[in-house]
Amino acid sequence: MEICPLGERPAPGEVPDKMHAFAVRQDRFGEPKQAWQREIIATPAIGALDVLIYVMATGINYNNVWAGLGRPVDVIAERQKKGEPEDFHAGGSDCSGIVWAVGAEVSNVKPGDEVVVHSGWWEPDDPWVLSGADPMLAESTRIWGYQTNYGSYCQFARAQSHQCQPKPKNLTWEQAGCYLLCASTAYRMLMGWAPNAVNEGDYVLVWGAAGGLGSLALQIVAAKGGKAIAVVSDEDKRQFCLDHGAVGVINRNDFSHWGVMPDVNSKEWGAWFKGARDFGKAFWEAAGAKVSPQIVFEHPGEATLPTSNFLCATGGMVVICAGTSGYNVTIDLRFHWMRQKRFQGSHLSNDTQAKAVNEMVMAGEVDPCLSGTYDFDEIGHAHQLMYENRHPYGNMAALVNATEKGQGAG
Ligand SMILES: NC(=O)c1ccc[n+]([C@@H]2O[C@H](COP(=O)([O-])OP(=O)(O)OC[C@H]3O[C@@H](n4cnc5c(N)ncnc54)[C@H](OP(=O)(O)O)[C@@H]3O)[C@@H](O)[C@H]2O)c1
Repeated sequence: MEICPLGERPAPGEVPDKMHAFAVRQDRFGEPKQAWQREIIATPAIGALDVLIYVMATGINYNNVWAGLGRPVDVIAERQKKGEPEDFHAGGSDCSGIVWAVGAEVSNVKPGDEVVVHSGWWEPDDPWVLSGADPMLAESTRIWGYQTNYGSYCQFARAQSHQCQPKPKNLTWEQAGCYLLCASTAYRMLMGWAPNAVNEGDYVLVWGAAGGLGSLALQIVAAKGGKAIAVVSDEDKRQFCLDHGAVGVINRNDFSHWGVMPDVNSKEWGAWFKGARDFGKAFWEAAGAKVSPQIVFEHPGEATLPTSNFLCATGGMVVICAGTSGYNVTIDLRFHWMRQKRFQGSHLSNDTQAKAVNEMVMAGEVDPCLSGTYDFDEIGHAHQLMYENRHPYGNMAALVNATEKGQGAG
């Protein structure tokens, strides 16, 4: 079969030679609305431990804003250096769909299974992975659909079988397709770095709390018995945060000390320090007590890290997974070493963590926070909203083979 229209299913076992996909090419790197275009590309072959997924809906994630911009990494050039021939990036790192074909050595899923796919990808024969250590720390680890090709913006996505988790039956395709990347990342950040994991009664400061990561972090903290203080930039997001587990909310627009911290010997530092202390008072007000956050859930980076480091409790942890506002981070080391704080990088999740948070979704403890569902042809537009920080809250999805919203819930 040459190609199958979106939404039509080929006969069981049949794989069309070509497929519909949203892709980026180097000559259109730039803002998402121009970078991401619909194309017809060859359907990929699968390896012995791979699966081909008939994608029903995809999540929209910030990593493919970066892929479209071509920075900080040109993902196409990076793969070509490793010997991959493709001159395009058909991305997408979050997916709900149906297992369509499996490689010869796959045993955990079979054709017809309804799954969601997490985005931790690694070489199956990586010695680190084979040793049983955390695969997210392996040299071969990649983000599926960002650093690998043929992700969830494809009619048929290629993934490794270990990435598959059962689709929560009560969710529609678009609800199921929108959360696992952010949920699994948030789970690893909050629960994966013992002894600095959320304990009953712990305070957690959550930046970008109404965003994709933040909305899931609030719910995970609440489910684990912690008390999340949410940070937003818009009063319209306040109630959303309170409805999703936050015990208090701070509006970062009430402060202006953001960005790289001034030299500690300069007089500007005094103004910065006042801003940080005032933010600390706002934290106390939001918490209803004179307490510090045991965990600071970070991703803005450059704009906020000096404040995060100042605020974090003695022996606490600032855990960070991105530099949304920039990579030039500064901290006042005196607060860091004297109060023995931990600064922990974190990236995606392993299978165990993805499974744990997917079970929280299946148990109804964590809602995917789907904010909007777009048509397949609006994939570029949805990334543009994210790029401009104009999506209202939570996570976005786009339909791929699902023909309308609301399908798939059992
Ligand atoms: N490494 C990983 O495994 C991993 C996984 C998932 C996501 N990420 C990264 O994490 C970041 C957030 O992803 P997301 O899906 O949550 O994106 P999102 O839904 O767009 O949310 C980001 C939030 O960040 C806040 N924000 C933006 N600029 C800020 C600034 N200068 N200071 C403070 N807050 C700011 C915004 O909230 P307010 O304007 O309301 O404050 C926004 O809601 C992205 O950079 C993404 O690439 C990394």
